[in-house]
Amino acid sequence: MAEHDISDKEKQYFFNTPQQSLPFFLKGSNSYDWGMKNRLARIFNPDSGKTVMLAFDHGYFQGPTTGLERVDVTINPLVPYADALMCTRGILRSVIDPSVQNSVVMRASGGPSILKDLSNEQIAVNVEDALRMNVSAMAVQVFVGGACETQTINNMTRLIDKCNRYGMPVLGVTAVGTELTRDARYIGLAVRILAELGAAVIKTYFVPEFETVVASCPVPVVIAGGKKLPELDALRMARNAIDAGAAGVDMGRNIFQSDAPISMIKAVRKVVHENMSAEHAFEFYQELKNS
Ligand code: 5RP
Repeated sequence: MAEHDISDKEKQYFFNTPQQSLPFFLKGSNSYDWGMKNRLARIFNPDSGKTVMLAFDHGYFQGPTTGLERVDVTINPLVPYADALMCTRGILRSVIDPSVQNSVVMRASGGPSILKDLSNEQIAVNVEDALRMNVSAMAVQVFVGGACETQTINNMTRLIDKCNRYGMPVLGVTAVGTELTRDARYIGLAVRILAELGAAVIKTYFVPEFETVVASCPVPVVIAGGKKLPELDALRMARNAIDAGAAGVDMGRNIFQSDAPISMIKAVRKVVHENMSAEHAFEFYQELKNS
């Protein structure tokens, strides 16, 4: 039998206080369901609206990449400083401690190695397995202008249809073949196509006039780090991307191939979350490195 409410305190219904309906903090994401928003809020910090994702999924097509020969040794010490971990299910299950608090963005496409046409990808993980691993988003590569353009777009749209059933965001990654020019016109085209077709977040490369890419994309854009640069240049790229409206970075080699990876990821966080200039963040990096 239900117990009587015996508290002496008067009930309060706040009749004059309308229930608030707060807008969701991420661009273009207000109409999603609660689960999708909650997953996105585990990737993007609701205070800064941004993310520092640590990418170490490179082995899925290029094997033991420099800096990732032993992910347990080189990446695990960086994990506490990342908002999200971008990796494959193989590395997640075999190496990453399940008690970590980071969100996981799972590499969900693959197939060809560096020995073949990289654009010939298929979906490599199903949504149920991603849910089993408590993943916060699934990442699929799209090769706009590549030999298998339609196939990779189809990989993404089929994955989005499946992911939408469970409130799982899809991160669309624009892969740029060596034959294509990385400029704002091409990147803007690729990014917009992925967003139009339903990707909740887009990852792409930073290019001059990046603000035009971000402005014409209706959902958050994060940048990949790309090839290893001197630390100051990498921090400048992150700064310029954030200034152009990027919602964060998904950086791999410029962190784990740095001379001082922990110092570097901490410096990247200063730029992304605390609006620090690249020059100050570089000083911060050097102080940490030399301490
Ligand atoms: C490869 C990817 C990688 O995750 C990403 O590009 C790696 O990051 P970085 O370029 O910073 O090393 O999506 O297609």
